[in-house]
Amino acid sequence: MFESISDQIKNYKKIVFVTGAGISQESGIHTFRGNEGLWRNYDLMKLATIDAFYENPKLVWEWYNDRRSNIFQAQPNQGHNAISELEKYAQVVVLTQNIDGLHKKAGSSNVLELHGSIVKIKCSVCDYNEDILTEISDFPPLCKCGNILRPDVVWFGEPLPQDVWQNAIDFASECDLMVIVGTSFVVSPANTLPLYAKQNNATLIEINPETTEMSGEMDEIIRNTSVEILPKLVSLFKK
Ligand code: APR
Repeated sequence: MFESISDQIKNYKKIVFVTGAGISQESGIHTFRGNEGLWRNYDLMKLATIDAFYENPKLVWEWYNDRRSNIFQAQPNQGHNAISELEKYAQVVVLTQNIDGLHKKAGSSNVLELHGSIVKIKCSVCDYNEDILTEISDFPPLCKCGNILRPDVVWFGEPLPQDVWQNAIDFASECDLMVIVGTSFVVSPANTLPLYAKQNNATLIEINPETTEMSGEMDEIIRNTSVEILPKLVSLFKK
């Protein structure tokens, strides 16, 4: 394991992690695809698009409210904690597709949330936005301007926040090691990030029990879970 990097481990100065739902799976948060995936039991076109929201904001909010209570109870696992600990040994940036905030909760200081955050709520019309950690009881919640508030997450068909995405490209383009954890990489544009790292001749490692869309681009693939493998990766830097 880690044959491609163990000789040069101390040379890696800029490390980027690209993470997806799989890293939080062992914190009790469902992934989207695969046998237990949310999109197997729920219709994403009815829950995670702006059209669905305008058609039935109450339904979308009820679903997000369930996810909010699940996520607010979840704790970072050893995978999140290992990434946070690695900051003692190298410059670490986390580019996550997850909206669960668990990287920040684990103490990682450089986290870009590509798909937004479940804590955040914004108005569907005006500029109002807020972090709300409490339960929302009246659906759909209304803004002071009278329009509907929505979760500040990126839904299918919506662009990523421009500044966040540009920063993500910059970090990916400058890193010398990219570790890709727990994402099926079927969703664009996050799945293009390894290509930016590759242009910089970075080493690419994938940690995932399953094959992904980008497995063919990797220098090393570890078919195991993040909780099992990430602490081992960090222990290499401690030696
Ligand atoms: N450790 C590592 N990887 C895991 C684990 C684990 N314990 N458990 C599952 N995985 C892997 C799966 O094999 C799969 O490849 O995590 C991946 C999860 O893939 P998806 O469910 O597709 O999640 P993700 O890639 O994050 O989805 C991207 O899709 O619906 C949208 O906006 C949502 O951000 C999400 C985006």
